[in-house]
Amino acid sequence: MAAYEYETHDYDVVVVGAGGAGLRATLGMAEQGLRTACVTKVFPTRSHTVAAQGGIAASLSNMGPDSWQWHMYDTVKGSDWLGDTDAMEYLAREAPKAVYELEHYGVPFSRTEQGKIYQRPFGGHTTEFGEGPPVQRTCAAADRTGHAILHTLYGQSLKHNAEFFIEYFALDLIMQDGRCTGVVAWKLDDGTIHVFNAKMTVLATGGYGRAYFSATSAHTCTGDGNGMVARAGLPLQDMEFVQFHPTGIYGSGCLITEGARGEGGYLTNSNGERFMERYAPTYKDLASRDVVSRCMTMEIREGRGVGEHGDHIHLHLNHLPPETLALRLPGISESARIFAGVDLHKEPIPVLPTVHYNMGGIPTNYFGEVLNPTPGNPDAVFPGLMAVGEAGCASVHGANRLGSNSLIDLVVFGRAAAIRAGEIVSPNEFQPAVPKGQIDQILGRFDAMRHANGAIPTPELRLEMQKTMQADAAVFRTDKTLAEGVEKMTAIAGKMADLKVTDRSLIWNSDLMETLELGNLMPNALTTIVAAEARKESRGAHAHEDYPNRDDENWRVHSLAWVDDTKVTLGNRPVHLDPLTTHAEGGIDLKKIAPKARVY
Ligand code: FUM
Repeated sequence: MAAYEYETHDYDVVVVGAGGAGLRATLGMAEQGLRTACVTKVFPTRSHTVAAQGGIAASLSNMGPDSWQWHMYDTVKGSDWLGDTDAMEYLAREAPKAVYELEHYGVPFSRTEQGKIYQRPFGGHTTEFGEGPPVQRTCAAADRTGHAILHTLYGQSLKHNAEFFIEYFALDLIMQDGRCTGVVAWKLDDGTIHVFNAKMTVLATGGYGRAYFSATSAHTCTGDGNGMVARAGLPLQDMEFVQFHPTGIYGSGCLITEGARGEGGYLTNSNGERFMERYAPTYKDLASRDVVSRCMTMEIREGRGVGEHGDHIHLHLNHLPPETLALRLPGISESARIFAGVDLHKEPIPVLPTVHYNMGGIPTNYFGEVLNPTPGNPDAVFPGLMAVGEAGCASVHGANRLGSNSLIDLVVFGRAAAIRAGEIVSPNEFQPAVPKGQIDQILGRFDAMRHANGAIPTPELRLEMQKTMQADAAVFRTDKTLAEGVEKMTAIAGKMADLKVTDRSLIWNSDLMETLELGNLMPNALTTIVAAEARKESRGAHAHEDYPNRDDENWRVHSLAWVDDTKVTLGNRPVHLDPLTTHAEGGIDLKKIAPKARVY
């Protein structure tokens, strides 16, 4: 192996990733005076949160009556009763505070006539514990909410002296004596290696949408934190639950926000029928995402798709006043023109369910501390390591996330991780020693990838993985497709050993970087398909045609998946059923959130 020198940086906290969760955690840590580094492979304001359009959920009641209890109920139902009750309560209760903090930090929210934060309807968000009309709960900055949040949080983090290491690619976690003590990173523009030696490491690396062929996710969404955790021998949780957003633009996958339906848009089939009225008579186009995506897929399968090949659906916004489109949805007007060639003032947008979000990820408690479940202690904390945002699984989204619950998850749990770190990380403690042997091991893997001299180019293997996942871990799954998928993905993961990297340089080497990213995507893809094959029921985004019903008796459990090369070992841990506060203390009435049939 080539000899690699490295520079060591000592910090109280190192955050990996600079999307909404990473920046909110970074800001919260720095505000408390913790020496905080944020290591990110892209410029912070290019992180994928920038693409979040429709908004952030919080029961502010600016547009009508709302309450955190109703928000919690909708989240529980949206999760198809797989979310953890304590974490969902924390999310719904803390959401208004977290949004007002964003407002005070400077997020330029859209406004009502009275000057309050504007809120729009989103799928699955209701009033009166699902008995009343849709609620306007999603706080929006036009259709560029993620962009506004990201820029504000980056500015605030700089103001509080957080230090940014930009275009550094995290290679692996440093693990010693049963705890995490930092991360090793490769600086992309000069090829140097950096050891971030820290008392707390926070993974905020986002999802792994790019394990699929068609995704709304940026090309950077390669599940890097999940990959590092899997290589460290820790489990991933609930990986079988992959969300398809109903309205990705047909062909490109570019997102058209659910806010479009929130503002009055609707879907039609080839008969011009508003088919959601048949499937979800109450909430129609504003049913939850998994439901709408399944209905669209059924319409197409039953021959009522639109277009030359009958393989997509129409989204209509052309009946909305041009002022509404200009004020509330300016970004998607442009996306529709660029990516679908349509003028949405005049024509419908061709759309298709597209991979959008990973409900599963690194198991954590609701403070973001990573769990290392054992049979005797399913909630055992792994010291020195946190995970927040889409990389983490707290679990508030269970089997299906509600739209606009992602941005609120980022800021509530980014903030919670900072609060917790403030309690357990002391600036006066000694820095951990740097374990040279382990750093050499991490760099040995890096060097082996850099010099990979097999027969398969990285893009070829990546495409094979993406096509397999798209075909076999789709909106609808069967025993047959999943068994085939497991077999194919096991073989594909086995081919990592036969990759060929042609560029050996250490500077701006996209071939090597994409190979490392593929090394991260692979355990994500493998655990997704293996866990999906094992789950013999239908729940949320996991729609199993051979087991069409939810089975709470046997399957109301979180799945766990450990990866060793191509082998996945499965386990499980119980869903948390206890709330943080009792009904008598002002908490939710548990009878309200007891499992029942999930209809919209
Ligand atoms: O449709 C959207 O604007 C996406 C929002 C989300 O995924 O939360």
